[in-house]
Amino acid sequence: MQGAEAMTDTRDTADIGLIGLGTMGGNLALNIAETGHRIAVWNRTAARTRAFLAEADDLAPNIVPCAQLAEFVGAIARPRRIILMVPAGQAVDDQIAALRPLVDAGDVIVDAGNSDWQDTQRRAAALALAGVEFLGLGVSGGAEGARHGPSMMAGGSDRAWAALAPVLQVIAARFAHDPCVAHLGPDGAGHYVKMVHNGIEYADMQMIAEIYGLMRDGMGQGAVTIGAAFARWNAGPLASYLIEITAEVAHAIDAATGQPLIDLIVDQAGQKGTGRWTVIDAQTRAAPLPAVEAAVMARVLSGEAEARLAGAARFGGAIAAVDLSETELESALFAGKILAYSQGFSLLATASRDETWALPLPRIAQIWRAGCIIRSALLDDMANALNESPDSRLAFAPAFAAHLAAHVPSLRRVVGAAVAAGVPVPALAANLGYFDMIRQARGTANLIQAQRDRFGEHGFARADRPGQTGLHGPWAKPG
Ligand SMILES: NC(=O)c1ccc[n+]([C@@H]2O[C@H](COP(=O)([O-])OP(=O)(O)OC[C@H]3O[C@@H](n4cnc5c(N)ncnc54)[C@H](OP(=O)(O)O)[C@@H]3O)[C@@H](O)[C@H]2O)c1
Repeated sequence: MQGAEAMTDTRDTADIGLIGLGTMGGNLALNIAETGHRIAVWNRTAARTRAFLAEADDLAPNIVPCAQLAEFVGAIARPRRIILMVPAGQAVDDQIAALRPLVDAGDVIVDAGNSDWQDTQRRAAALALAGVEFLGLGVSGGAEGARHGPSMMAGGSDRAWAALAPVLQVIAARFAHDPCVAHLGPDGAGHYVKMVHNGIEYADMQMIAEIYGLMRDGMGQGAVTIGAAFARWNAGPLASYLIEITAEVAHAIDAATGQPLIDLIVDQAGQKGTGRWTVIDAQTRAAPLPAVEAAVMARVLSGEAEARLAGAARFGGAIAAVDLSETELESALFAGKILAYSQGFSLLATASRDETWALPLPRIAQIWRAGCIIRSALLDDMANALNESPDSRLAFAPAFAAHLAAHVPSLRRVVGAAVAAGVPVPALAANLGYFDMIRQARGTANLIQAQRDRFGEHGFARADRPGQTGLHGPWAKPG
């Protein structure tokens, strides 16, 4: 730490350490300090450590700022617990490499960033060779969650979990009195579940944006009117953090222009990759995730502003009016949400079998009830349903099947009206297509299989000849 003031002797005085005092790391460190733990901190850029300490106010006595990495490691009581909160990828590898000669067997390194779960597996295996424990910790809740209580998804050895659990359980968000943190499996399991959480978050946000688009472009409603509807929905079955903040951002007025701020924000959404990772992973496992696929596609197209301008000039951006009630929109969003979460939990079930993780699906729903971005009251019902029907799709669990029977008609009307009017609703439509396929006793893949046999002699089975496979058709060109 260049230019840092001389530090007092800090050896073994901290309970835990944290590296990376950015948005998440700084807030997490304050959260830990506030629970009475003494925390050593180190940041690559010294100025950030000083700024962090200056803003720590009355929590400063619980913070041990360190000038050098070796001093930081030495400041932590053994076995050491060291949390990394740096960008996923090379930064994590570099930081582990820098720590490696300084830590001892039995110490625990925690990667609390949004790392790729397979990187976590690789790092856990490499550190295990030196007897260093590794915990891959998915942390959700943004800056506010990190500061006052995130939802956390842990993967790693029992020893690593046992070392960190006492701290994580007191800094976590609480639903009733239940801390929103759990040990979900070995090595990459926590980061995997966090990845799927983020995928579901993409779908949830996209469906909300599609309903907003229908209200803005199909119904001519202004931001404040739309915000008021979302505020009302937040008191009903859709009650959730994402609906709550949608109402909040729709109501915000720009001080400089007096206009709704949301109308001034450029229509291009960023992404850091966890949604795309989720889709790629789902594809490799043959676990359909259409709502997340649509959401990732929509974010990518949002970034193609020039192509969209050219498309509007070539084809016209004209949109016909839609006539939908607030209740229908609410109901359609509710059905879409259930289908997206059902797909997400099915992916978790598939991954759990593939990786032999034994992921506790009801517990995952429980630790998402508070602290994280997708938190909602509905997750409590989902945890109960997953407990009652552990082997079933969430969509088929009795309570959720009843919800779908009641609300899919609205989803159908809303998607139908949007399609007819030219308002894009790719995630809602993808969910409707998924629903219609999972309830189709006789599908259309008989034709696909016939085509495959016709061009590639792939063979088929006949419904009237059970047990016989690899049959071929007497294909001939028509007429
Ligand atoms: N922001 C969120 O809402 C959120 C939510 C959940 C999870 N996450 C995840 O949490 C992690 C941290 O995100 P953030 O938003 O807190 O990032 P951030 O504000 O950009 O802070 C990044 C921190 O990492 C340090 N850093 C960057 N590159 C480094 C390197 N090569 N070696 C050592 N330190 C390095 C930075 O130090 P300097 O001061 O030297 O630049 C800074 O302290 C990421 O994996 C992110 O995906 C973020």
